[in-house]
Amino acid sequence: MQPNPMNEPSRTDLAGRAEIEKLVNAFYKRVRNDDLLGFIFDRVAHVDWETHLPKMYAFWETVMFRTGGFRGNPLVPHMQLAGLTTMGREQFDRWLALFQGTVDDLFAGENAEHIKRCAEDMANVIHSRINAAKPGPSHCANLHNSPSHVESNESRQ
Ligand code: HEM
Repeated sequence: MQPNPMNEPSRTDLAGRAEIEKLVNAFYKRVRNDDLLGFIFDRVAHVDWETHLPKMYAFWETVMFRTGGFRGNPLVPHMQLAGLTTMGREQFDRWLALFQGTVDDLFAGENAEHIKRCAEDMANVIHSRINAAKPGPSHCANLHNSPSHVESNESRQ
């Protein structure tokens, strides 16, 4: 039986750096065109994309495959942004919808599902930390194990 009877282009899973780069490039293209988020990157943070994109390749490669060598702190720029513009639930929900939509448009499989869960967990953690509330439970061990990034969830009800 054909696995793809609608003749749609078949989507493969995220397998490594090449797919991470494709995902990150497509995601930030959407972000920059987004009415709620685009200006935050381009007109509030004045992001240097030639620096930011490689950093994000390294970030997601580290999260997914433990290679990539990301050494930054994802909380710092968002803390700073929260002092300059609104970084509330609406902004994080949009960020997540764009990220997960990009994953779904390009990839399918276990890693694609995992990166969507990680993105959701981290969006919740970053949102909670910069808005001083408690994050929800995590699927993504890589960043939650780092005390400099994330508080323990053990005391959560
Ligand atoms: C409303 C949502 C978000 C906005 C507007 C936003 C915006 C930004 C901006 C402006 C920077 C700095 C870029 C630069 O100057 O080079 C940044 C860095 C970064 N963001 Fe976000 N971000 C959001 C959500 C997220 C989420 C949910 C994650 C994780 C899944 C994330 C991961 C990162 C990382 C890893 C960095 C680099 C940190 C470093 O330099 O060490 N962001 N973000």
